[in-house]
Amino acid sequence: MIIIHKPKRLRGEVFIPGDKSISHRALILASLAEGVSTIENLSPSADVQSTCKVLQKLGSEIFSNEKSHEVTLRGKGRCGLRESPVPLFCGNSGTTARLLMGVLAGQRFFSVLTGDQSLQRRPMQRVIVPMQQMGAQILARQQNTLLPIAIQGAHLRGIRYELPIASAQVKTALLLAGLLAEGETTVVEPLQSRDHTERLFQWLGLPLQKVNLQYSIESTPIPSFRLSVPGDFSSAAYFVALAAIHPDAELTLRNVNINPTRIGFLEVLQRMGLKYEIQVEKQSPEPVGTLMVRSSPLRNVAVSAAEVPKLIDELPLLAVVATQAEGKLTVHGAQELRVKESDRIRSIVTELTRMGAQLSELTDGFVVEGPTPLHGAFLRTHGDHRIAMALAVAAAVAHSPSQLTGERWVTISYPDFFNALFSLYEV
Ligand code: S3P
Repeated sequence: MIIIHKPKRLRGEVFIPGDKSISHRALILASLAEGVSTIENLSPSADVQSTCKVLQKLGSEIFSNEKSHEVTLRGKGRCGLRESPVPLFCGNSGTTARLLMGVLAGQRFFSVLTGDQSLQRRPMQRVIVPMQQMGAQILARQQNTLLPIAIQGAHLRGIRYELPIASAQVKTALLLAGLLAEGETTVVEPLQSRDHTERLFQWLGLPLQKVNLQYSIESTPIPSFRLSVPGDFSSAAYFVALAAIHPDAELTLRNVNINPTRIGFLEVLQRMGLKYEIQVEKQSPEPVGTLMVRSSPLRNVAVSAAEVPKLIDELPLLAVVATQAEGKLTVHGAQELRVKESDRIRSIVTELTRMGAQLSELTDGFVVEGPTPLHGAFLRTHGDHRIAMALAVAAAVAHSPSQLTGERWVTISYPDFFNALFSLYEV
């Protein structure tokens, strides 16, 4: 349990740790590459550790150098991984399970993937179905929908697949499988989801064809690489939100990935009246910069279904921000939130209601009426890292202290979150 109160002022800067999505992808690609790759500023998250451990069980050689904050991998080539004698435990990480399904579907051996209680409840059919169409044999619990799943990899055939929902995880599983398949693999997504995989493929010189929201790839060897992972915008977002809604805040966030497919939260806050500046420092393979944010009077807006994939992980945090803004905020088209690490619509509405916020659930989103002064409360994280951090932000603007239980869940994406948060407190 942790006690969080509202500071008088917030000042200072935070160096944002490596992006979780990019780190998973870099580790997987480096394991399948020819030769030695180096990854700097890898995400320190427990989720990325899950990917590392699973890849090691599959024979990938991964060495971390604590001093230089670098990870070195000796790639095994696309067909060089080996069968694990034990089930592959993906912990809490949906990205680990779903992306690796794409890789394991194309290996000529048998694998079992499993995860913690939360991951065992999350839908896997969305990857199982296209992998079966490509030729893999897959059996899973509950009529082929849930972990644990057993995969007998096979010689895959490229397919054309239209994603029923916008999901970067499913898109990536298909593109990774496409690197191992005979013929062309084409994925079409209904809305633009995060494009880290496409950027990495292009940066590595892999023959990705991209036409609007349609991506095609053919089987091809992967060269080794050296990559510096930019800071995770989803981690930076908690400080953006806090600076915006605290009455006396000025924060600088360094090394932030400002990929347009990830910064929907910043765009919505800009529409709401956020005062911020960005200095762009690098462009390829991902845009990176410094973000300066300060206290801002905000007015609530409507978030449309088309915007949702660009801020999917920040929506619970947006609910927190909306409690402090004038007017009504509505979010539609976000039913995916119900199948994340927790039912994030239910979790955030339940906990913010305890603090005195005016908000309600919709089947596919939520409505918040603001502004409401929040009061401290006894808060639960619902075993969900993003709910934990969103509630910490709410507690840091409430007029009395809150007790947050389950705070350790922040390690899933941002182990140093509370140290970074409290370092900004001025009494
Ligand atoms: C991720 C994609 C998103 C996101 C998740 C990470 C990724 O999930 O919510 O935290 O790394 O591709 P979906 O693609 O399933 O929406």
